[in-house]
Amino acid sequence: MIEILNPNNQSYTLIQHAILGCKLVSIPTETVYGLAADATSDKAVKKIFDIKSRPTFNPLIVHVANIDHAREYVEWTEEATLLAKHFWPGPLTLVLNQKKHSSLSKYVTAGLNTVALRMPNHPIALEIIKKSGKPLAAPSANISGTLSPTAANHVQKQFKKGDIDYIIDGGSCEVGIESTVVHIDKGKVNLLRLGKIQKQDIEKLGLDCIEALEGKDKIISPGQLLKHYAPTLPVRLNAKTVEKGEALLAFGDKPLTGAKKSLNLSLSSDLTEAASNLFKMLHELDQSIYTSIAVMPVPNKGIGQAINDRLKKAAS
Ligand code: TXA
Ligand code: MG
Repeated sequence: MIEILNPNNQSYTLIQHAILGCKLVSIPTETVYGLAADATSDKAVKKIFDIKSRPTFNPLIVHVANIDHAREYVEWTEEATLLAKHFWPGPLTLVLNQKKHSSLSKYVTAGLNTVALRMPNHPIALEIIKKSGKPLAAPSANISGTLSPTAANHVQKQFKKGDIDYIIDGGSCEVGIESTVVHIDKGKVNLLRLGKIQKQDIEKLGLDCIEALEGKDKIISPGQLLKHYAPTLPVRLNAKTVEKGEALLAFGDKPLTGAKKSLNLSLSSDLTEAASNLFKMLHELDQSIYTSIAVMPVPNKGIGQAINDRLKKAAS
C-alpha cells in the first residue's frame, strides 16, 4: 500500500525530495485530493497521465503559491487580478493564455496555448508548493473516469505502491467538489466547469460571465467531454422510491425508506454540506453487495448545480 504521511516537517521534506525527483505525490486541497508533480518536468507530467490513464488531450491544472507565481506562466489580465484577489486562495481555476517562454512542460497544456491555474486554499498544499519551489500539476487523484477522492484512503484504494510515492493526509476535503473553471478571454469570463464559486459570485464583481458548459457552446474544456465521476455501481437519479437491493443517497429530512443502506447528504438540506459529503458517500455506497445507488433529488440552485452536474455524469 502507498504510505500515508501525517503533515510534519519530516514528511514535508520527503515530499519535497519526491517532487524534485520527478515522482508523484498525493496532496489534499480544499476541493479534492490532487495527484501532484513538478509541472515543469516532462517526465513527471507524463507520469501523471500514465498512472491516471488520462487521455493526453486533457490538460492539467497548475497549482501556484500566489498571484505573482501565476503571472510567471501566463499573460495575466485585469479580470484575472479581480478574480484572484477575491477568490484566491480558493476553488477557482483561471484559464489564461500561456506566455511564449514559460517553463511549464508542454504536456501540462495538452497542446493548447492556454494554461489553467489555481491557488488552493489548503495549508498543506500551499506548504508543499512553497517547499518544492515548483508549480504543481495536479489533477484529481483518481483513475480517469472514476469518483474523485476526498480523503487519503480514497487515493490509497485506487493506486498501488510505486505509482505514487506518498499520500499526505489532510483529513476530509472541506468543499468536496472540484474547483470552478473559467476561461478569461477578451475581457469575458467563460464558465467551463461548475463548482462552489458560481456565475453570480463572478458577476457581483462587475464581470460578464458566460456559461460555456458542454453542449451549450463550442467545447473549450477538453475534460468536460469525458465520462466522469462514475462509481462502479449504476446510479439512478431523482429517485422517488427505493428498489430491492439498492443503496440510497438521500437528501433532506424525509429520506426514502427501504434501502439496504442509506446515507444522507444533508439532513438539514444544506447544499454546502451536501457537496462536501457527495464523493465521500458515493465511495462508501459503491459496494457490490448493492444493486445500484438511488439518489434523491437535490435542488438545482447554488452549489446544487455543481452537485447535479457531477451526479448526472456519475449516472451517464
Ligand atoms: O479542484 C480541482 O480543480 C482539483 C484539485 C486537485 O485542484 N483538480 C482537478 O483537476 O479537478 P482535473 O484534472 O480533474 O480537472 C481539470 C479540469 C479538466 O476538466 C480540464 O479539461 C480543465 O480543467 N482544463 C485544464 N486546463 C485547461 C485549459 N487550458 N483549457 C480549458 N480547460 C482546461
Ligand atoms: Mg478529475
